[in-house]
Amino acid sequence: MKNLFDLRGERILITGAGGAIGGATARVCASLGAELIITDLKAPEALAEELGNSTRAAGLDNASRRDVDALFADVGPLDALVDCSGYYVKGDWVDGGDEWDALLARTLDINIKGPTNLVRACLPGMIARGSGRIVLTGSMSARNAGSTLAVEPAYVASKGGLHALVRYFARQVADKGIVVNGVSPGPILTPLLVSANQPFATDSYPMKRLGEPAEIGWPIAFLCSRGTSFMTGAVVDVNGGMAFS
Ligand SMILES: NC(=O)c1ccc[n+]([C@@H]2O[C@H](COP(=O)([O-])OP(=O)(O)OC[C@H]3O[C@@H](n4cnc5c(N)ncnc54)[C@H](O)[C@@H]3O)[C@@H](O)[C@H]2O)c1
Repeated sequence: MKNLFDLRGERILITGAGGAIGGATARVCASLGAELIITDLKAPEALAEELGNSTRAAGLDNASRRDVDALFADVGPLDALVDCSGYYVKGDWVDGGDEWDALLARTLDINIKGPTNLVRACLPGMIARGSGRIVLTGSMSARNAGSTLAVEPAYVASKGGLHALVRYFARQVADKGIVVNGVSPGPILTPLLVSANQPFATDSYPMKRLGEPAEIGWPIAFLCSRGTSFMTGAVVDVNGGMAFS
């Protein structure tokens, strides 16, 4: 029987690959044999060099529809798209005034418009080939309203919207050989979390610890694989048992 988790021969584009979870995902997918195109605001050249296997690095602002369309016109056929980019900055939605309004707009630009730009750009090629897997990154904070991380509402709303978009995109292309799924990570030790600058009561967590980036990367690699042929519209909880959908 063919091993459908094997990623050899699969071309996967991973955005946010300069970040912790995106970088870990790239390493996992490369270890399974995938050929990667890795992007971030600044091209992750060092990671591309580390991974070898014809990995290509590119700079890309996912929030720019024009830049996303230009890159996708250039990269050639893709078997899978993974978006690990994300934006989380604390703000004061009660007294923050214009500053918070700008933070909301920036958060939605990166966490909602970015994935929409990416999905829109990769679909024509996948539809033409009758095959593709798309993986988007949500958050446990959309499930538990940030009971572990003191998140603020722009982030919670953006990730709740992202979970809804996973289901929306999945429905749109369910009869075209394309599956769209997401992961919903709990607190993972990454720069994004460290920037929150808050203590975590890990003793009260079921596994008594935070997650590691690769512990999101492995589930994402599964979602990139052909083993997901009858799985679409799922947002998979990966949170050490902290919250269930
Ligand atoms: N770390 C956690 O605890 C946690 C929990 C739940 C969800 N997430 C989500 O996981 C994903 C990865 O987060 P991470 O923890 O690895 O953070 P990270 O900060 O290490 O990585 C995020 C990456 O996104 C990139 N990025 C930001 N804006 C971009 C844009 N406009 N275009 C392209 N790239 C852009 C950044 O440059 C960065 O490299 C995010 O979507 C985040 O919301 C993280």
